[in-house]
Amino acid sequence: MWDTLKARAAEVADRAILDLFDADRADDFAVQTQFMRFDYAKTNIDAGTRETLLALADRAGVAQRRDAMFAGAQINETEGRAVLHTALRNLDGGPVMVDGVDVMPEVLATLDRMEAYAREVRASAITDVVNIGIGGSDLGPAMAVQALSPYRDGPRCHFVSNVDGAHIADVLRDLDAKTTLVIVASKTFTTIETMTNARTARAWMADHGGDPAAQFAALSTSEEKTAAFGIPPERVFGFEDWVGGRYSMWGPIGLSLMLAIGPDGFRAFLRGGQEMDRHFCAAEGAENMPLMLALVGMWHRQVCGYATRAVLPYDQRLGQLPAYLQQLEMESNGKSVGMDGQPLSVDSGPVVWGAPGTNGQHAFYQLIHQGTSVIPCEFMVACEGHEADLRHHHDLLIANCFAQSEALLRGRSLDEARSKVADKFEGAELERQAAHRVFAGNRPSTTLIYPKLDPFTLGQIIALYEHRVFVEGVILGINSYDQWGVELGKELATALQPVVEGTAPATGKDGSTQALVDYLHRHRG
Ligand code: F6P
Repeated sequence: MWDTLKARAAEVADRAILDLFDADRADDFAVQTQFMRFDYAKTNIDAGTRETLLALADRAGVAQRRDAMFAGAQINETEGRAVLHTALRNLDGGPVMVDGVDVMPEVLATLDRMEAYAREVRASAITDVVNIGIGGSDLGPAMAVQALSPYRDGPRCHFVSNVDGAHIADVLRDLDAKTTLVIVASKTFTTIETMTNARTARAWMADHGGDPAAQFAALSTSEEKTAAFGIPPERVFGFEDWVGGRYSMWGPIGLSLMLAIGPDGFRAFLRGGQEMDRHFCAAEGAENMPLMLALVGMWHRQVCGYATRAVLPYDQRLGQLPAYLQQLEMESNGKSVGMDGQPLSVDSGPVVWGAPGTNGQHAFYQLIHQGTSVIPCEFMVACEGHEADLRHHHDLLIANCFAQSEALLRGRSLDEARSKVADKFEGAELERQAAHRVFAGNRPSTTLIYPKLDPFTLGQIIALYEHRVFVEGVILGINSYDQWGVELGKELATALQPVVEGTAPATGKDGSTQALVDYLHRHRG
């Protein structure tokens, strides 16, 4: 089927997407739920291609695999685990069984405990919360706290992730240790960056008049390790190993978000995720938003061969969404072998990158419009902003968002470029100047449009992207839920630490690493 799709892509590569538009295309090549619309009409996908893509998903068994995931099967086969972050937002969806046990009573009890604790903290003298975590224990809550800042009515939340001392130093510098709560967020409670930062924060608090025994909480699967760190069980919020790190913001790892926007806001966020789960499980074929988002992505990456995809939220508060999606998508689907250990026959997931519009327009869009590589763009925008008195800003924002996808679609021909500058140049100089003003156009983009970036909508957007990753993983035949690719660097860093400290020789290292160590030792104080 890949061959059929690739042959089709070659056949239609030069046709104008604009010519595909008839009276129905805009609606036919969009998925609309009660709450948002995903438009993929500005891509080179036609009805026949879509049918083949849907058949690909069918043949891969996406629907069966989806049902297995929701039913608690061990679809994370390399680690022998279920994949059930969906249970964390299953507020009223009935039992979820893992190994014959319904996990929902425990999930809901933990949510209740988080809410009681959040109410207590929000009513206390705590003014600031520092979430110490990295990867999935940082990116989700950090992204969401920023995204939902208009809803914040609790303490200010800060995030420390990097082991670079600059990060924690800059965050703690402005805080009062007596009114700061530190949350140590780590699924494993062994991650070197997080544990190093947690110890530094504990020493800072003790030195600055705070009480680490009372002002630390932990979010982890390991009760033993949180106890060993000195955090009492009543301030430990646990979860199970069937919640992957990059899928964990729906449970205890979301505590900072709950503290910021309150338990009701957090529940609205969960309800948004649950709404997308329901849609994903019920909507058929081309009506299914995560399925179509995934298939459009696979058409661009695995079929057309476009190596990267830009995520371009016209929503300043989604500024951290690209970084969040980088982990979600690239840690999940950046794999070279299938579930069976055999090499993939097609490319793995794309490089995901991006930044909010309109800022990106004044930075990297030049390359998107006129560079030699095609970069499919995913635009997203809210119909309404939160700043009612700044409506004209929002109108401008939306106009820019729509204009960019239109520009990518239409481009500008040589004739049009010539007429733009015909009053300034003539002859050979006119030709030369006009060539610089040509836009190839015919560059694919999609747009996700939603009413307003509130907790419910954000929950839907995040669950939409999670399910897209799932669909892509099933079609590729990979395990989207392990991350062995991060291990080697961790092991080598541990081995290099004494070499850097100067207590072990760099013998056995490659010449480049030895020379770097040598330079380091000669140039540090
Ligand atoms: O190194 C990668 C990783 O394991 C991610 O998958 C995870 O989100 C992150 O590190 C943090 O892990 P933990 O929550 O266990 O500290």
